[in-house]
Amino acid sequence: MSSSLTDCYRDFPFHKQTMNGKPLIYLDSAATTQKPKQVLDAMYGFMANDYAPVHRSVYELASHSSTAYEEVRQKVAQFIGASNHREIVYTKGTTEGLNLIAQSYGSFLEPGDEVLITEMEHHANILVWKQLVSSKGIVLKVVPVLDSGILDMEAFDALLSKKTKIVAVAHVSNVLGTINPIQEITKKAHEFGAVVVVDGAQAAPHLPIYVEELGCDFYVFSGHKMYGPTGIGVLWGRYELLEKMPPFLYGGDMIDYVSFDKVTYQEAPLKFEAGTPPIVEVIGLGAAIDYLQGFDRLEVYEKEQKLLATAQTKLKKMNGIRILGDGNPRASVISFTVDGHHALDVATILGLKGIAARSGHMCAQPLVRRFQEESIVRVSLGIYNTFHDISAFIEALSEASVLLRPELSY
Ligand SMILES: Cc1ncc(COP(=O)(O)O)c(C=O)c1O
Repeated sequence: MSSSLTDCYRDFPFHKQTMNGKPLIYLDSAATTQKPKQVLDAMYGFMANDYAPVHRSVYELASHSSTAYEEVRQKVAQFIGASNHREIVYTKGTTEGLNLIAQSYGSFLEPGDEVLITEMEHHANILVWKQLVSSKGIVLKVVPVLDSGILDMEAFDALLSKKTKIVAVAHVSNVLGTINPIQEITKKAHEFGAVVVVDGAQAAPHLPIYVEELGCDFYVFSGHKMYGPTGIGVLWGRYELLEKMPPFLYGGDMIDYVSFDKVTYQEAPLKFEAGTPPIVEVIGLGAAIDYLQGFDRLEVYEKEQKLLATAQTKLKKMNGIRILGDGNPRASVISFTVDGHHALDVATILGLKGIAARSGHMCAQPLVRRFQEESIVRVSLGIYNTFHDISAFIEALSEASVLLRPELSY
């Protein structure tokens, strides 16, 4: 374990890599994060020494494997402030978690029932509900975003009604970085009897999370965005809701009794975990949580805030840069455009200079269009980024802008 938050980048083997002959500066953590050696070692060690099926066999190796797998469930519960580890369902990621809730909890909805989402959602938190519009006749309502990048809470109040059965909202926007007021949203939604689903994909790596304090009913996130592997995510749900929800996928491991006439299922969470699970990925997730928990979570947040503020201040001094939703309290993400230039060109030149930044619609087309753009550039931070990374990015962007438009020299 590295000694401090300042030099923790040394834990991440990627930091020694180059891209296009330049030192690699990774600013695409909102898409997926790099992995520390601790996670890589844990996964390798488990595969080499402890690997066996879980929940199925009685021999010693399988029993070790099952124990390690179930211990991670407890770690996850503790990581997000949940008191009951049986409320932790392993999924493939945020997308699968949202699909699970929409399909399973959504089966209770009736035609005309309303689901309230926001204009700043990732496609995953739009499409799963749109699906219920066509399959069940529900009505989808959308809370607009203000120019400053925050939710229009007056519109939220006006859209919320007794017909609202589900409010589904991102904790942190993957485009604007906006941190949404989940406690306020939850309190108001509960007054109308709606359940609240929080997409925590962009929050879990950056903010301390306490689901019980947030007051929401479901919280979903992905392992790969918080220094763990791909293929593993988490759905936390209140046990009384999980208990009454039907299974999502069917197959091995989730059943209690099977005959051709009758089937009964395991209790939650296993009821939702059909088939051989991603055992090694669960171990990797556990190692990622251990890694993050090795730091003060508030200090991680503050470190990233300082880096973000520096990047924002420097970007604002540059000509022709438009930051989307400037003025919001944000976490880890800045999206921008360069006047007169396609985001793809900007990101391509940045890439040639060793800077990994994303361009495009960020899987949030309605939001990007709301800011009158089709394509934007996004830089997003992780625990391993440094002030040097921010300077290198700003320098590369200045050079890129001059290359694209020689009359703009900074
Ligand atoms: C806010 C948000 N929600 C959901 C997702 C989907 O996550 P995954 O692809 O890990 O399922 C993402 C991924 O970028 C995201 O940023």
